[in-house]
Amino acid sequence: MKIGIAADHGGFALKAEIIKWLTSQGHELKDFGAYSLNEGDDYPDFVIPLAKAIAANELTKGIAICGSGVGASIAANKVAGVRAALINDGFSARQGVEDDAMNLLCLGGRVIGASMAEELVQLFLKANYSGAERHARRLKKVSDLEK
Ligand code: RB5
Repeated sequence: MKIGIAADHGGFALKAEIIKWLTSQGHELKDFGAYSLNEGDDYPDFVIPLAKAIAANELTKGIAICGSGVGASIAANKVAGVRAALINDGFSARQGVEDDAMNLLCLGGRVIGASMAEELVQLFLKANYSGAERHARRLKKVSDLEK
């Protein structure tokens, strides 16, 4: 599975923790930055390139982190084909993929700690979209908005 990750200054520290942890698990990871801590940087500069790579099928799933996770999710959902959500609980990390085909997990670097983030990332990465008819029907109603 090809995974991408991106963060602004608000998610910079958590991104480093997640990269270290995922790499130790043997995951292949593409880092879209930020590559250094700059308090004046802007989350769209990192999140949008990650979102575009997901939309282009260059990546299977992505993780985007800003201070709250809100800006990252708002920005990423502007890219057609991306289904991003800010997640703070395990149920949604799993069900967001199974039912809603979430392909970009957004996290708040100033909201959750590394252990919780790792648990959410694990659930997100392990989950698969069910493809059930009712979910496909609902997702089509959403993706039709992108036309
Ligand atoms: C940056 O200060 C902060 O606004 C950003 O990281 C994010 O939380 C936006 O939603």
